[in-house]
Amino acid sequence: MRFENAFLDEIRDRVPISSVIGQRVSWDRKKTNASRGDYWACCPFHGEKSPSFHCEDKKGRYHCFGCGVTGDHFKFLTELEGIGFPEAVERIAAIAGVPMPVRDERTEQREKQRTSLIDVMELATKFFQDQLQSAAGAKARAYLRDRGLTPATQQSFRLGYAPESRNALKEFLASKGVEKAQMEACGLVRHGDDIPVSYDYFRDRIMFPIPDSRGRIIAFGGRALSPDALAKYMNSPETELFHKGNVLYNYVRARKAIARGGTVIAVEGYMDVIALAQAGFDNAVAPLGTALTENQLELLWRMSSEPVLCFDGDSAGLKAAWRAADMALPAIQPGRTARFALLPEGKDPDDLVRTEGAEAFRQVLADARPLADLLWMRETSGGVFDTPERKAELEKTLRDLTARIKDENLRFHYAQEMRERVQTFFGRARQKPLRAGEWERRGGHGQGSPAQGGQFARPGGAASRFAVSESLARSAMVKRAGGVMPLREAAIIVALVNHPSLIDENFEHTEFLELSHPDLRQLHTTILDAMAHDAANGRGEVLARIAAAGQLDGWERAVGLIRKARLWPVLEDAALDDAREAFAQALHLHRSAGTLHKELKAAEMALATEPTDENYRHLVEIQTQFRDVQATEALIEGFGVPSGRAGRGL
Ligand code: UTP
Ligand code: MN
Repeated sequence: MRFENAFLDEIRDRVPISSVIGQRVSWDRKKTNASRGDYWACCPFHGEKSPSFHCEDKKGRYHCFGCGVTGDHFKFLTELEGIGFPEAVERIAAIAGVPMPVRDERTEQREKQRTSLIDVMELATKFFQDQLQSAAGAKARAYLRDRGLTPATQQSFRLGYAPESRNALKEFLASKGVEKAQMEACGLVRHGDDIPVSYDYFRDRIMFPIPDSRGRIIAFGGRALSPDALAKYMNSPETELFHKGNVLYNYVRARKAIARGGTVIAVEGYMDVIALAQAGFDNAVAPLGTALTENQLELLWRMSSEPVLCFDGDSAGLKAAWRAADMALPAIQPGRTARFALLPEGKDPDDLVRTEGAEAFRQVLADARPLADLLWMRETSGGVFDTPERKAELEKTLRDLTARIKDENLRFHYAQEMRERVQTFFGRARQKPLRAGEWERRGGHGQGSPAQGGQFARPGGAASRFAVSESLARSAMVKRAGGVMPLREAAIIVALVNHPSLIDENFEHTEFLELSHPDLRQLHTTILDAMAHDAANGRGEVLARIAAAGQLDGWERAVGLIRKARLWPVLEDAALDDAREAFAQALHLHRSAGTLHKELKAAEMALATEPTDENYRHLVEIQTQFRDVQATEALIEGFGVPSGRAGRGL
C-alpha cells in the first residue's frame, strides 16, 4: 500500500534511528557520542573489524564509509531483514506508537487476494506432495530415487508430482472451494480466449515448490520425467505473487545457513541446489529459469559480500559467467564483489557431488576466481596481440571495462591492476623483465627515443607476439610432427609400457590414440601389436618388441622427458595405483585437448566461410577452453604457468 509522506515523516521523527539500528548492532564505545546522537558500529551489511558504520539521530540516516550503504529507518529494516516496505513501516509505527493509516478499500482488497493466492499455492503444494506418495507417483518416486535424493531431502524441499492429467489439480482445488479466477491468477491452469476449457499447467512433472523470502510458496518449477518432453523444465508464469527475476530458489535456507557462517553460492539449477543441500551445502541458491538478474545479484549481496557464482562446465556455463561478470561490474564496491567458479568439463554441481562427493565441490569453491581474473581472461584469451594497434586495442578494451565501475576508489584499483597485468603480459614475451619506466614508453605515449625504439623493436620470436599461440604452441595437438615431444603423450606411452596391465584396463581408450609425435605413434603401434600377440603380460616383453622394432631411441627419449619432468608415477618402479592415476589424468587431458582441437578447426573453418559475429564468438570461446586445458595441463605437469594465475576450471 502507499503511505502519505507526512505519515512516514511523523513516525521517522518520533523514533531515533539509533534505537532501530541498536537492536542489530553493538555500538563502538570509543567513537560513539550518544549525547550528540552520533553512533558508530561495525557495519552489519559487510564484515569488518573496525567500525565504519555511522548513524545520526538528528538526520535520521545511516551511512557506511566502508561499503557505502546508506538509508533511513525503513531502508535499514528492508535491507537487513529482507522484509517488505509496508512491514517496515508497520514496525516503526508500532515503536512510535502511531496508528497505521486506514487502508483504502482497493489496497485492502488486493492484500486479501494476495493472501488467498498464497493459500491456493499452499494447497497445490500439498496436493503435489501427496501425489508423489500415491500410486500415480511411483514413476516419479523412482526417478528421484535414481537421482540420489533421499526421502528426507525430498520432504525438506517439499518436492511433489503433478500427475499426467488435464484436470487433476483443477478438480482438487475446486473441491476445496478455490475459484477459477484464483487458479488462473496463481498460474496453475492454462486459460485464455483460445482455450475453451482451462487445464492443468503442469502435467507429468516433478514439482519444485518455490518459496519467497518468508518461506511461502509463490511458484513452481516442474521437471519433465520423460526425456523427450518439449521443455525439460517449466516454471510458473509471472503472476501477482511471482516475479521470477526477483526470487532466488532456496533463499530462506541459504540465508539461515549463512547466518551460521560462510558465503552464499549461486548455482544454475534447482537440482543443483538440492543435491548440494543433501551433500551438506545449505548455502546454495539458484535463479529460476533465467540468467542471474541484477535484482538477484542484489539479493546475493544482501546475504554476503562476496558470493560465489558457480557455473556449469560447458560453453553455456562460461557464457553465463561472462554475462554475470558484465552485469556485476558497474555495481561492485569495496566489500561487494563476486567470485566465479566453473565446474569441471561437462559437469554441474549435482553431477559433481553425486559422482565425486562433497570434497570435490569444496575444491571447486576453493578454486573460484575473483572478478578481475575472469574479465582479464576473457579479454586476453583468443586474442592475438602482435601489433601496437592490437595491444592498444586490448588496453582500450580493459580501460573501457574498468570505466564501467561506478565506485571511484575501486575503479582506480582496477585500472592499476589491469595496467600491471598488461605490463606483465606483454613483458613476458621479452627475454628479460621490464625495467621501471619502460611501460610508459611501451604504452605508445611516444616518448621513447629512436634508440630506445630500436631496442624495443627487437623481435621476441613468434610465440612472444601471439598471446594465445604461446599456449597453443605448448599444445601437443598443434605441434609439428617430429618436433618437441609432448610430455602428455609421452606420459601415456611410458605408463603403458611400464605398467602393461593399463593397456588391458583401458583398451577402448588406448586402441585409438591420436598422437602427434611420430616416435610415440610408432611405440603405440608396437604396444598394440604386443597386445595382439598376447605378449603384453610383462614390461620385459613389451620392451623386447620395442627393441625388435628398432624403436629404442624413441623410447629412451620419452623416458628421458618423463624423468626431466619428474613424472615419477609413470616410471617403472612406481606403484600401479599411482601409475593408473597419472595415466588417467594424462589420457583425460589428451582427449579433451584432442576434441577441442577438432572443434577449434571447425570453428575456424566456419568463421572463414561465414564471418558472422556468432561464429567469431564461438571461435573465441573454443580458444578459451583450449587455453584452459593447457593451463590445467601446465599445473598438473608442473610446467611453469607464467602468471601463476592460470588454474583449473575457468
Ligand atoms: P539445466 O539444463 O542445467 O538443468 O538447467 P539441471 O538443473 O542440470 O537439471 P537436471 O539435472 O537435468 O534435472 C538449469 C536451470 O535452468 C532452468 C531451470 O531452472 C534449471 O534448473 N531451465 C532449464 C528451464 O527453465 N527450462 C529448461 O528447459 C531447462
Ligand atoms: Mn543437472
